[in-house]
Amino acid sequence: SGLITFDPGFGNTGSCKSDITFVDGENGILHYRGYPIEELAEHGNFIETAWLLIFGELPLKEDLARFRALLCAEELIHEDLLHHFNGFPSHKSQPMAILSAVINALGSYHTDLYDIHNKSEFFLAVGKMISKVRTIAAFSYRKSIGRPFMYPDPDLSYCHNFLHMMFSIPNKHYDPPIEAVKALSLVFMLHADHEQNCSTSTVRMVGSTQANIFASVSAGICALWGKLHGGANAAVIDMLEQIKDGDITIDEYLEKVKKKECRLMGFGHRIYKSFDPRARILKKAADNLLQNGFNDQLLDIALELEEKAIADDYFTERKLYPNVDFYSGIILRALGIPVAMFTVMFAIGRLPGWIAHWYEDFENPTTRINRPRQIYTGQTQRNYIPIDFRK
Ligand code: CMC
Repeated sequence: SGLITFDPGFGNTGSCKSDITFVDGENGILHYRGYPIEELAEHGNFIETAWLLIFGELPLKEDLARFRALLCAEELIHEDLLHHFNGFPSHKSQPMAILSAVINALGSYHTDLYDIHNKSEFFLAVGKMISKVRTIAAFSYRKSIGRPFMYPDPDLSYCHNFLHMMFSIPNKHYDPPIEAVKALSLVFMLHADHEQNCSTSTVRMVGSTQANIFASVSAGICALWGKLHGGANAAVIDMLEQIKDGDITIDEYLEKVKKKECRLMGFGHRIYKSFDPRARILKKAADNLLQNGFNDQLLDIALELEEKAIADDYFTERKLYPNVDFYSGIILRALGIPVAMFTVMFAIGRLPGWIAHWYEDFENPTTRINRPRQIYTGQTQRNYIPIDFRK
């Protein structure tokens, strides 16, 4: 093992070459296909961003029209697939478990897309996944609250349609304010890609075996689930709620963090060492939303917590600043999304990135199966001991 480089957590390993997303962690810079995230956030929307990440260029009008038509055509899921939802326990169902299982099962309804041979098959797979993920996510929520599924409405935009499937009731369409639809699109867009994060690396890892795109993405969803990754957005809200409910004060919480009894959720990042540009955009958006009538005491707590943490040597020495998840949960709460769905929301947002990375590897003829080595620390060779002689 002398020739093997030990790199725990792959902090210094470039596992692939990629044209998709550029991150400069020292300076807080994030570009999707060369476009600064701030510009995309100001002028773009989630669907346009998805196209950009997957196909490499901002869409032309006709691209967007074609993409929207495909998303509309693909928004329903096969009725048989609905039985999968019933396999999960009522009321206690876990939306992330449902999402990864049903995305994987979705593949078996489209086995013709297990092997993709050309761009048009890929385009179809993209449309199916990006459209159906939102239906599956909303249905998983309806299942968890014991309500009937609300079918998609093809006249609505992507984000509006999602909110409709989440919150409409029979004969009464939920009609969200435009700010809510825009805020949701922004949250999705800011989560859409982030180079070789754990879930994306997982998608590429699984994809490198030539597993199909549905299975690869399903594995990515599982990787996202953990609270150090996508699960952080829900953990942030738990933390802020504990403070709001008076279980612990901000100062006490920070002391616990410094004693390493817990982590400050929504803080820190493997790459960003000055600030996370996504957090800056979301902080402003959360503030705007709350000024437009969506009240939430948790924002005040978050602001105070951030202020205290960034004035504290423990955090500055370790270059810990708010990350994308510190404020995203506050926006999702303002939109009425339950905390149990937060990581699912991250997954919907991250899907275009996973697809783009899966395809980049798929298209690249030099992609080898991903197969890291290890530093073996176990026993050296010893001889077998018959059971009667073991102590
Ligand atoms: N709170 C307290 N201390 C922290 C935190 C935190 N959130 N993050 C890192 N540290 C400390 C850590 O204890 C270590 O200190 P020491 O040198 O004394 O041992 C030092 O900072 C370096 O930590 P690390 O674990 O080597 O950092 P990493 O790059 O492996 O981890 C991270 C990155 C995001 C997993 C971590 O910062 C973390 O656990 N943050 C909280 C969870 C979170 O918000 N995750 C969302 C990340 S952004 C969206 C996404 O990727 O999903």
